[in-house]
Amino acid sequence: MNHSIGSVLIKGAEILKKSKIANFKQEANELLESLLNRSPEEIFLSKGKSLSNKLQEAFFKRIGRREVGEPLQYITKVAHFYSRKFTITKGALIPRQETEILVEKVLKLIDGKKNMCCLDMCTGSGCIGITLGLENKQFKKIFLVDSSKKALECCKKNVEIFGLEKTTILILSNLFSLVPKIKFDVICANPPYVKEDDFHSLDRTVREHEPKAALVSKKNGFFHIEKIAIEAQSFLKKDGILVFEVGVNQAQEVKKILIKIGYSSLVIYNDLNKIERVVMAKWKK
Ligand SMILES: C[S@@+](CC[C@H](N)C(=O)[O-])C[C@H]1O[C@@H](n2cnc3c(N)ncnc32)[C@H](O)[C@@H]1O
Repeated sequence: MNHSIGSVLIKGAEILKKSKIANFKQEANELLESLLNRSPEEIFLSKGKSLSNKLQEAFFKRIGRREVGEPLQYITKVAHFYSRKFTITKGALIPRQETEILVEKVLKLIDGKKNMCCLDMCTGSGCIGITLGLENKQFKKIFLVDSSKKALECCKKNVEIFGLEKTTILILSNLFSLVPKIKFDVICANPPYVKEDDFHSLDRTVREHEPKAALVSKKNGFFHIEKIAIEAQSFLKKDGILVFEVGVNQAQEVKKILIKIGYSSLVIYNDLNKIERVVMAKWKK
């Protein structure tokens, strides 16, 4: 039987509420919006219209996936970052709100500079590098590097959606191993930084659905950060900046690692929850 969009939405939201999903109404709406490829306004205005059996079935299938803990963004294939809609596919980490702080700080630091080259190491969906390129048109080139083929495929889709094909270069590489030997003004990274021992305490939706290789790093969570910092020395221009997103309680240790390698002018920035989240350093040599 054909039911109205409004009644189907209510039923979907009830199912999500029972499985303790906080934004159950909003999520039911987003699941239908993405299925019908309609805006929230269009859905609102068509609540009285009926939905075919086929579409109802497809909608409740999506509700079912969400009910058992699959992240909304992998179902809708959309993740919001810096007020833009990024495409997100399995194999790429879902962009997090706290990562916007890194982008915001880099944009402030480079304000007024021209013809810059940037490298976004561990780019995943490309959310950091692509946002930098969209917010500041003074980048000559932005390199987007990741060791995961699936993540880089997702990144390529985003590059195409946002029309940055001419500015970006995508490289499938284990850290810097396949990056051409050029000098960058900015190297930024949101690398894996979760301690192996802490993986089991992550939220179940994260553990079961997001790529473990995007999250966990050896050496108590510091392996990637340290390796990137060591390798970045030969890829940074004089006064070039290296910027990391770091995990809770990692910033002071990262600061020590960077000073030991030879970086200077270190600054730590907090996120909106007052957690030390971003570490920035300059390469003065
Ligand atoms: C925490 S995610 C960050 C993704 C994206 N930059 C973001 O902020 O949403 C870390 C990314 O590092 C990539 N990665 C892990 N090990 C790597 C390595 N050895 N070389 C390059 N990329 C790596 C993962 O595939 C993943 O995409």
